[in-house]
Amino acid sequence: MSFFTKIFTKQSKEEVKMNTMNIGIILGSTREGRVSPQVGEWLKGIADKRGDANYEIIDIAEFQLPFMGTTDGTEPGIAAWNEKLASLDGFVFVVAEYNHSISGALKNALDLAREAWNNKAAGIVSYGSTGGARAAEHLRGIMGELMIADVRTHPTLSLFTDFENGSVLKPQDLHLDNVNLMLDQVNAWSGALKTLR
Ligand SMILES: Cc1cc2nc3c(=O)[nH]c(=O)nc-3n(C[C@H](O)[C@H](O)[C@H](O)COP(=O)(O)O)c2cc1C
Repeated sequence: MSFFTKIFTKQSKEEVKMNTMNIGIILGSTREGRVSPQVGEWLKGIADKRGDANYEIIDIAEFQLPFMGTTDGTEPGIAAWNEKLASLDGFVFVVAEYNHSISGALKNALDLAREAWNNKAAGIVSYGSTGGARAAEHLRGIMGELMIADVRTHPTLSLFTDFENGSVLKPQDLHLDNVNLMLDQVNAWSGALKTLR
């Protein structure tokens, strides 16, 4: 193929597929009655309208991960969890604040993989009485160790003003721009980091 043909030819389906990022929206809580699925669905609704990446909700609870160190590590859930993460280029963590940090379930899920996290990008959407900010900052420290590049923009939902009775998500419109900006950054960095893997 000549140089000119190459630069003027439309991308093949294969190339488009390779350049489209797979982004997992990871639900960071697993308790009975949790609100994280509502937050995840709301984010996916916004993300899918953009048409710029494949967005998928990833529910930690579905993998039935054992507590790290309590088994020999051969449960199929651990392998499935690692395979799922390996298939993704970037992440959006839906983070609930539990005792000023992330939930134990999310920490356990983070600990149960290593290479599958490396050289990928992530954004955080957190919630809590102060927008889950303290939990999100803890997660940023963990991501440093896992070589996950965390983007700057961080939408924070208040349990008081973005939820009815702290349990039904009714997000204020002001979050929309921030969510889109965060997704812009996750997509851009996911693509850039793919070149390292
Ligand atoms: C064990 C526990 C600890 C919590 N600690 C905090 C906290 O430190 N700060 C805060 O803002 N909210 C705290 N909360 C409130 C949670 O952020 C709130 O219940 C939220 O809905 C939890 O997310 P989930 O519904 O997805 O599980 C705590 C809730 C639980 C169950």
